[in-house]
Amino acid sequence: MRAATLESVPASPVVSDVDTPRPEAGELLVKVAVSSLNGFDAATAAGFLRDMMEHRFPLIVGKDFAGTVEALGAGVDGFAVGDAVFGVVMKPFLGTGALAEYVTVSAGYGVARIPEGLSVRDAGVLGLAGTAALDSVDAVDPRKDETVLISGATGGVGALAVQIAAARGARVIATARPGAGADFVAGLTDSGVRVVDFTGDLDAQVRALAPDGVDAVLHLAGDGGLLAGLLRPGGRMASTLGFGPDAVQGQDVTAHAVMADASAQTLTKLAADAVSGALRVPVTATYTLEQTPEAFAAFGAGALGKLAVTCS
Ligand SMILES: NC(=O)c1ccc[n+]([C@@H]2O[C@H](COP(=O)([O-])OP(=O)(O)OC[C@H]3O[C@@H](n4cnc5c(N)ncnc54)[C@H](OP(=O)(O)O)[C@@H]3O)[C@@H](O)[C@H]2O)c1
Repeated sequence: MRAATLESVPASPVVSDVDTPRPEAGELLVKVAVSSLNGFDAATAAGFLRDMMEHRFPLIVGKDFAGTVEALGAGVDGFAVGDAVFGVVMKPFLGTGALAEYVTVSAGYGVARIPEGLSVRDAGVLGLAGTAALDSVDAVDPRKDETVLISGATGGVGALAVQIAAARGARVIATARPGAGADFVAGLTDSGVRVVDFTGDLDAQVRALAPDGVDAVLHLAGDGGLLAGLLRPGGRMASTLGFGPDAVQGQDVTAHAVMADASAQTLTKLAADAVSGALRVPVTATYTLEQTPEAFAAFGAGALGKLAVTCS
């Protein structure tokens, strides 16, 4: 099959021929229709995860998938060949990713059915970014009218987190570069997101909107220490970048390092919200599997929202 692979890290992915995987006991073989790019994939290619996870080369990149169950490993219950499914590759090693024609995934974790009304394109970009966004918002649990600063709002996780926080009644302050980024973020909800320019004096811009500090921060990009300093006393922060309790010791704030937990329950909730229209899936460009190297280049150059990749 064709797949986007790395022979070593750091390196840029290339599209090459590799063996089609076979499902082991408890696994599904999924024919991938759509995958996407995530910060995780860029970090893998850059070699940032080399000392954190086992790498199996040639390493197929890609966390998100949507497609059709092609075969079942021994002992799989609850799924049948032909089921439309989506989710996140959650294996404890890197190598069998979803930017490929086929992927094997555990039937018990990181996969859910695509409901009626959700396009395979949207399902294929929703898994990891949606889970990280939902888990991050849940971690700070914003109340109605609380102010939430979202740093990294232009990315895949951020564009979804802005919508989830706004839907809970929070007043969202979102970071973006001026121009296309600011326009993109401002258009994510109908409830009036206030946009601040992270390339300028972020501290002054946020203080102008929230003189006593913000109630909560989502740290999806930028300097965690600076962002923690923008919280009011007792404020809460959630970080997808590993900024946790140790980083705020001695300060009157809490910080939670989020690890996206792509349970079937979370995936099912995200899909239902996308079907109802509560969550708009922010796909801004679509590439073919053969164009994956271009998609990585675009991602690294500052793409907005989610980039989809059609794999078969
Ligand atoms: N812990 C977990 O389980 C988990 C799960 C999912 C994601 N993550 C991590 O969460 C982060 C976000 O993921 P993603 O997929 O949304 O990545 P992404 O699409 O690359 O989004 C990051 C965004 O942050 C913007 N940005 C860069 N520097 C910034 C700054 N100083 N202040 C504010 N915004 C800034 C970028 O804009 P420009 O491109 O214009 O610079 C980009 O739009 C990544 O680091 C990813 O690895 C972790």
